[in-house]
Amino acid sequence: MPANSMDELVSLCKRRGFIFQSGEIYGGLQGIYDYGPMGVELKKNIKDSWWSSMVYRRDDIEGLDASILTNPKVLKYSGHEDTFSDPLVDCKDCNGRFRADHLDDSKCPLCGSINLTDPRPFNLMFKTAVGPVDDGKNFAYLRPETAQQIFTNFKNVLDSNPKSLPFGIAQIGKAFRNEITPRNFIFRVREFEQMELEFFVKNGDDEKWHEYWLEERLSWWEDQGVPRSSLEILDVPQDELSHYSKKTYDLMYKFPHGVEELEGIANRTDFDLGSHSKNQNEFEITAKVTNNKESNSKLAVHNLDEKKWEIPYVIEPSAGVDRAFLAILNEAYNEESLPDGKTRTVLKLSKHLAPISAAVIPLKKNDNKLVNLAKDVKDQLQQVSNRRIILENTGNIGKSYRKHDEIGTPTCITIDYDSIEKNTVTLRDRDTMDQKTIDIDDINKHLLI
Ligand code: GAP
Repeated sequence: MPANSMDELVSLCKRRGFIFQSGEIYGGLQGIYDYGPMGVELKKNIKDSWWSSMVYRRDDIEGLDASILTNPKVLKYSGHEDTFSDPLVDCKDCNGRFRADHLDDSKCPLCGSINLTDPRPFNLMFKTAVGPVDDGKNFAYLRPETAQQIFTNFKNVLDSNPKSLPFGIAQIGKAFRNEITPRNFIFRVREFEQMELEFFVKNGDDEKWHEYWLEERLSWWEDQGVPRSSLEILDVPQDELSHYSKKTYDLMYKFPHGVEELEGIANRTDFDLGSHSKNQNEFEITAKVTNNKESNSKLAVHNLDEKKWEIPYVIEPSAGVDRAFLAILNEAYNEESLPDGKTRTVLKLSKHLAPISAAVIPLKKNDNKLVNLAKDVKDQLQQVSNRRIILENTGNIGKSYRKHDEIGTPTCITIDYDSIEKNTVTLRDRDTMDQKTIDIDDINKHLLI
């Protein structure tokens, strides 16, 4: 059962070290967050799961890790300089600034005034000076989406790793948007991460592949604990499509603050590769692109049958890591009543996402024999695991179970005197709270490590 409110999630995240406000000791920075010891593990596991499904389990997709600082020409020809903006209004009475499309009844949300300016476009890209002279000419943008460097590296990837259509390039990384009103915890922030795939297909096959990726992505979300029943598919109306899109499906999720976009799956046509290509008149580009006189590359594939160069179409599933984190956390969150009348908070995360795979807990914290055996068990498990196993030496089993329920640890392994005498341990299951005794040598068989 999901959380009742965002406050419950915010409080859990702070209490258990998932997420902190960035620069909190100086009052924070709006729309910027830091991921703590548990948050960094959950986030990494989400990204690993996406990477594994996109790159490792397929042979038609290659990975990329491109720069964040972006040559302004890239974002000129991508259309972002001209169109990547939100409508901004000012309140003439209290000087508050807001997104026009987020206002209720055209009233200032701070003072209720209707004395507002007309909306004007506010470009969301962050700029920074490059080099020692800040003269306004030598600057770069912090990329607003990871996608553009995939397009500009299209030829590099293809020349070094030859592929024929259809094939894809995947990337996970930071993106930055100077949101007018960041809000709802990590839902709308100014610094975030994206997991983006650009899947290149033949013009004409694009609609078929668009449907294919919609299904693939729904199935991936299901594996992360976000079932189809929790997602709505929005066929984005024509007048709301991004400048590059022919058709977009948004996967909408019921976040604690309302139903909003979790992931977009767009048909970007030949817009981006076409826009970044030189000598555009050599190709039949269906999208309306800016005449490019500055690129030195043609981002196309050679069609051997028809003996011509063609610009592929692109299907793009694009998910935010932070929104994925929030949705997965929300789905996993449970408040359960216990037989003794108390309640417990438990995160029922899928095993492959849990920040801690297993906690090894000695029954007593000052008994060297128990603690040393617990350390050995932890070390042996960690050697064969690429997820985190911890030694939890608090000496208070009940408190340790409560902590590990709240951070979603699937299994706690208790080391007691039978462990020394009979070579056994007790496994405690997070979801059922059932306990069973097993041989130490069999632990691996019972865990997803
Ligand atoms: N390359 C396509 C693209 O960037 P988008 O719909 O603007 O499309 C894709 O963004 C995803 O990135 C969104 O579905 C969302 O998950 C995430 N995202 C976008 N803006 C965000 C923000 N300000 N804070 C957190 N996540 C954001």
